[in-house]
Amino acid sequence: MAMDHEVETTGLVGWFDRRFPLTATWKKHVSEYYAPKNFNFWYFFGSLALLVLVNQIVTGIFLTMNYKPDATLAFASVEYIMREVPWGWLIRYMHSTGASMFFIVVYLHMFRGLLYGSYRKPRELVWIFGCLIFLSLMAEAFFGYLLPWGQMSFWGAQVIVNLFSAIPFIGPDLSLWIRGDYVVSDVTLNRFFAFHVIAIPLVLIALVIAHLVALHEVGSNNPDGIEIKAKKGPDGVPLDGIPFHPYYSVHDFMGTAVFLVIFAAIIFFAPEVGGYFLEANNFIPANPLQTPPEIAPVWYFTAFYAMLRATTDPFKIVLMIVIALLGLLALVRARGTWKVGLPVLAALVILAMAFTESKFWGVVVMGGAVISLFFLPWLDRSPVKSIRYRPFFHKAFFAIFVLAFLTLGFLGTRPPSPASTLIAQVCALIYFAFFLGMPFWTRLGKFKQPPERVRFKPH
Ligand code: HEM
Repeated sequence: MAMDHEVETTGLVGWFDRRFPLTATWKKHVSEYYAPKNFNFWYFFGSLALLVLVNQIVTGIFLTMNYKPDATLAFASVEYIMREVPWGWLIRYMHSTGASMFFIVVYLHMFRGLLYGSYRKPRELVWIFGCLIFLSLMAEAFFGYLLPWGQMSFWGAQVIVNLFSAIPFIGPDLSLWIRGDYVVSDVTLNRFFAFHVIAIPLVLIALVIAHLVALHEVGSNNPDGIEIKAKKGPDGVPLDGIPFHPYYSVHDFMGTAVFLVIFAAIIFFAPEVGGYFLEANNFIPANPLQTPPEIAPVWYFTAFYAMLRATTDPFKIVLMIVIALLGLLALVRARGTWKVGLPVLAALVILAMAFTESKFWGVVVMGGAVISLFFLPWLDRSPVKSIRYRPFFHKAFFAIFVLAFLTLGFLGTRPPSPASTLIAQVCALIYFAFFLGMPFWTRLGKFKQPPERVRFKPH
């Protein structure tokens, strides 16, 4: 029988291969997927993200067996899982710890992308699918956080849904539509449950598949940021490529083992992680009549939350001045081309800012911080991908950017003060200067010549 791919002809595998591309898929994506031989520590986090995704789905299925999505029963059902269901405490802690570990792993995975320019051509789509995964993950965590129906679940959801009411004209109706009620209620809990257990997980799985298919189409980047496909041997295999299996399956197995030790240590010895993974206020049942003294989101949202809080009335004026200056700069450089549109846009934004409250612009700043990520492949104009071959000041700016993001994350966990608001505003400006200034600063400085072949030292 004629087949367009290599097949096993005997045994059970042969039977499958004549009906389904089993061996062909295994070869294409695993045993004959050639990955650069110089992967380092930073390349563990993709496979770890997959591992955590599977952990969340499996533990989530078991939690759903005993959880009750009903405002009068939800809190008690979680306590029932913790105290009465055999091993329920373990399943619940695996899921709650998994949520935070998911973000740690994904943030490190994205950091690697920034370090080595993995978002650049030809991996733009890999990056975009990644950004969509990040957005979906945020939605998944937000919906999931309401389910235990503790004080923080309730008030956190109340605060975030209320943000939508800051949108001009449609805002109040929109937040009512999202809640399904005038306050967060049983109706809200039911729809958030539906999104958390089925809708968003389906989207996440589909996006992860798309992410990996896109990656395997173009091949992996590496710490040197050079394309291994540019140098192939007579057999068509990249000279610096090694088969994913067994080389990187073993490598990832090692990363998985280390990760599981850390994961287990948290679950067994400190599942609350000092209130960062599980907040103290969420051990109190939701009470719509009593606002907790301090409402703070879980740590993985705090950097963006700090930007929202930093957008005060004076900061709005600063933003208007920055936008006006950028508009002017675009006008000076325009010389009659399409860039004339940019100053017009800047003028419209400033006009809109003058007539709408700062809360709305806080939402725009927070949303813009995530949306900026999508444009990275086109904002970065440096002639090399990897940070290894960039000028020193690129490394310094990158370090300042990371520091600003971490500072925002820290400030978002604390109650605001005039000093911390000012620091958050400076950090927010650094964050946006890093992204929006990229078309300018990434071209400047003296770049090192990347090597012809990847640098690799066998251990
Ligand atoms: C559920 C979440 C995610 C999973 C399971 C996942 C999975 C993976 C895997 C298995 C790889 C290949 C191994 C590796 O390079 O580490 C990879 C590569 C990559 N991922 Fe993700 N990813 C996720 C989220 C993200 C996010 C949020 C972004 C960025 C916004 C992203 C951007 C990338 C990029 C750019 C690559 C190519 C890296 C390179 O070749 O240097 N991923 N991902």
